[in-house]
Amino acid sequence: MFNNELIKKFKDTPTPFYFYDLDQLEQTILRLKSLVFHNNYQIHYALKANVNEPILQMIRKHGFGADCVSGNEILQAIRLGFDPQKIVFAGVGKSDEEICLALDHNIGVFNCESLQEVRIINEIALERDKVANIAIRINPNVEAKTHHYITTGMQTNKFGFSQEELDELISSIFDFKAIEITGLHFHIGSQITDIDVFRNLCLRVNEIQDWFNSKGFIFDHINLGGGLGIDYQNPDKNPIPDFEKLIQTIEQNLKVRSGQEVHLEPGRSIVGQCGNLITKVLYIKNGGPKKFAVVDAGFTELIRPALYQAYHKIQNITSDQEPMIYDIVGPLCESTDSFGSGVELCETNRGDLIAIRSAGAYGEVMSSYYNLRKKVKSYYSSDFTEQGFSDYLGTQLEDVSMEINMHL
Ligand code: LLP
Repeated sequence: MFNNELIKKFKDTPTPFYFYDLDQLEQTILRLKSLVFHNNYQIHYALKANVNEPILQMIRKHGFGADCVSGNEILQAIRLGFDPQKIVFAGVGKSDEEICLALDHNIGVFNCESLQEVRIINEIALERDKVANIAIRINPNVEAKTHHYITTGMQTNKFGFSQEELDELISSIFDFKAIEITGLHFHIGSQITDIDVFRNLCLRVNEIQDWFNSKGFIFDHINLGGGLGIDYQNPDKNPIPDFEKLIQTIEQNLKVRSGQEVHLEPGRSIVGQCGNLITKVLYIKNGGPKKFAVVDAGFTELIRPALYQAYHKIQNITSDQEPMIYDIVGPLCESTDSFGSGVELCETNRGDLIAIRSAGAYGEVMSSYYNLRKKVKSYYSSDFTEQGFSDYLGTQLEDVSMEINMHL
């Protein structure tokens, strides 16, 4: 991924920074697009994974919609030209203010998680003389076989309607004059690498849909959420996730009614592999049995290893010396500020550049200003080549006028 010319440019760039390969991103989008293009699928990219403008521009250019979980994400999507009808608004705790904003921008669908939320959306929509399309998020109790912190589809998780509230919703649905139930929504977890999990989800969705149909409910769409994992171990060998297997599994197992759309909300699988955190080695330190490489990025720039014990491949991109074993640690006064323990790196010295791979999803967006750290900068392959960013888009960036109250 990193040729000599690029590394030379990295050496002139202040660290730490995120580097995004837009070709990689586009190849990934095109692969997914080629599989769903002729079918009745709608892809809503989950903004929570990465909200950087060039990335969103690229995703929008290819016709995907946006899965948003806050008012600011909705504004960011609209500002960058996403069709409001292709925006879904999800989240277990939408505020009244955010609901107003979503209604005022005529977004496509609210993914609703509780009876009280539906009541409130109904009240606010009535006041505004609008009708809100909603998809009911069901917790299907399907094991995602991923890290328990990013499992969402079990009955013990906070997400989705409980059976009790569902019965109540169904019996009181005619009271909700400003609500149209148009879909069912599921999302059972993230970084799912066992494709059988999606098969189990589809089979469960079939049962749930049959149950609803028997009560007279027919849905325009079934939303299976996101969750497809990426290969953190081998980003160069498998830069694009196995979308073929996912789509094939859905086609073979999900009973899609005539005219019904299937919606997907991929985040990580679209942007994960195109992003890398580039950091510089500050010090090499012998700590008894260990050798530490202290780098200038910390969990303030990439929190996944500290928060989920997540693995990211780490490479020294400026050394070709014999490999040695290091703990790669950040500068923060926290023992969890470590990117990896017992990592084999080419012999590493002060000033070397380290790439932390597969950091495009849930990397930069989860950065913080703990210790008053500077907001991490991001660069794109187009910043380092003759080809400008507008060549990637085929259009000029749009005039951006709307003010967003966010920490971007
Ligand atoms: N739809 C819903 C309702 C979600 O909650 C999520 C992610 C997605 C779609 C996108 O899922 P993806 O395709 O990216 O797996 N910060 C964690 C991941 C949290 C995922 C939250 N929900 C991490 O760094 O692994």
